[in-house]
Amino acid sequence: MDLCNFLLYAISSYVFIHVLVVFALKSSSSKTNLPPGPKGLPLVGNLLMLGNRPHESLANLSKTHGPLMTLHLGCLTTVVVSSAEMTREVLQKNDHTFSGRIVIDAATTLSHPEGSMVFAQLGPHWRTLRRICNTQMFNPAKLDALQGLRRRQIKQMIEHLHESYAAARAIDVGRCAFTTVLNLIWNMMFSVDLVDHKLGLAQELKDLVWELMKIGGTPNLADYFPVLKPIDPQGLRRRTFKCFTKLHAIFDDKINQRLQSRSSPSQFPRTNDLLDVLLDYCEDNGSDFRHEHIKPLFLDIFTAGTETSSTTIEWTMAELLRNRHVLAKAQSEINEIIGREQAVDESDIARLPYLQAVVKETLRLHPPVPFLIPHRADATVELAGFTVPKHSQVLINTWAIGRDGHVWEDPLSFSPERFLESRVDFRGHDFQFIPFGAGRRICPGMPLADRVVHLILASFLQSFDWKLPEGVTPECLDMQEKLGITLNKVTPLLAIPCKFGSTT
Ligand code: HEM
Repeated sequence: MDLCNFLLYAISSYVFIHVLVVFALKSSSSKTNLPPGPKGLPLVGNLLMLGNRPHESLANLSKTHGPLMTLHLGCLTTVVVSSAEMTREVLQKNDHTFSGRIVIDAATTLSHPEGSMVFAQLGPHWRTLRRICNTQMFNPAKLDALQGLRRRQIKQMIEHLHESYAAARAIDVGRCAFTTVLNLIWNMMFSVDLVDHKLGLAQELKDLVWELMKIGGTPNLADYFPVLKPIDPQGLRRRTFKCFTKLHAIFDDKINQRLQSRSSPSQFPRTNDLLDVLLDYCEDNGSDFRHEHIKPLFLDIFTAGTETSSTTIEWTMAELLRNRHVLAKAQSEINEIIGREQAVDESDIARLPYLQAVVKETLRLHPPVPFLIPHRADATVELAGFTVPKHSQVLINTWAIGRDGHVWEDPLSFSPERFLESRVDFRGHDFQFIPFGAGRRICPGMPLADRVVHLILASFLQSFDWKLPEGVTPECLDMQEKLGITLNKVTPLLAIPCKFGSTT
């Protein structure tokens, strides 16, 4: 046996024994009153039951095993929550205990994974980051201050759509929305343009964010069998490291340039973008926020803010093109309230209740983060008569809850009207509808997403009528989902911007 084979043999034996021991320990602890769940296979447990659409597979399993269900994913005990009532127990009554995070192996490539808000455990640093988001970045006054930047990006997007219109060319709606959101967020950070719709400038950045999305959406054996972590069997940690290094270099560049221009204020006037705001905050003597915290925070905002928003826009447009009466109603609301001459403004959104209902209905049926970001129990908790052990992963299946026939009438139909008469909202108080989460970990970017998603959609609908490409009918439009880091369309939505009245 050569050295290589010997090593392989040694590693696999070690993995096998380790997994057996963990499995034996788990089986004995299963007598400790875990919530019910399906029987698993030796070693892998219930891993193979997840399939390609785990949100759907788990929704089906919960019909048999109940709204609080245990799965063994390799060595990781996972509790799946599938009803609004149970979600309230977790995210309201026991929010503090369930607000820990499972840190995925790929994220440990960061020198301090705790520096990222997404993966930080509850504690002083996480609280500082949340406070900065709430007070310095996403509160109404701060968001208003950067409205001009967003307006300019929307104008560019419309110009790009006009070119497709003139050429009668279909656009990839998700890509167009992704580019716009990426540009918007980049501009809010550094007040410079980044990505050109046409030329694909700064393609590198776009590719990096896509690559991170792909990595984040790939199930990693190392997360289920910790013994595999040192060998990173799928190379996901190495790929993440490459992306982070490149992104950090880009951010470093921007931060250093800004530090230089701040030292000669007469030459370079202040921009008041997010970078300025954060640098001010660092210079505030009372603050424990430092320069090295800026990059992880920007990385969080980039990765958490772009695809979530663009996928919401893509699903909304897909639902509108499938349900043309809804599209017509949303268009006529915009026409009546704003008209076609004056560009849509963020302040107009409050006067577009039907468009708001359309977005809510889309988020109910297609929540971009269907399991939220996995939570972790920081202590053993008694829940509905069962025991959830410390350090279990907790997945809240918002996809299943949004389609629960006990809560929603005719749950599979796309009917924005259901939200017109109701006060149900996504701000984290109505547990049957929590696309942004609820409790301490609720999405801090929700106020920005709320503005951006509505603004882009209203601008799409105000500027053009829309039709599907030749040969695609509303009835045959592919609405299949795939779960990466967000819930995406399997087939990207292609749509043609056209003149009003030309589609009927
Ligand atoms: C439609 C758009 C969006 C949706 C549906 C969405 C949804 C979510 C969800 C479900 C979570 C996890 C909540 C939990 O674990 O309980 C989350 C977390 C987060 N979101 Fe969003 N999000 C969106 C847009 C944004 C934007 C625009 C930003 C920033 C610019 C952002 C930044 C974050 C961050 C930093 C976290 C982690 C918070 C923490 O762990 O404490 N999100 N988001």
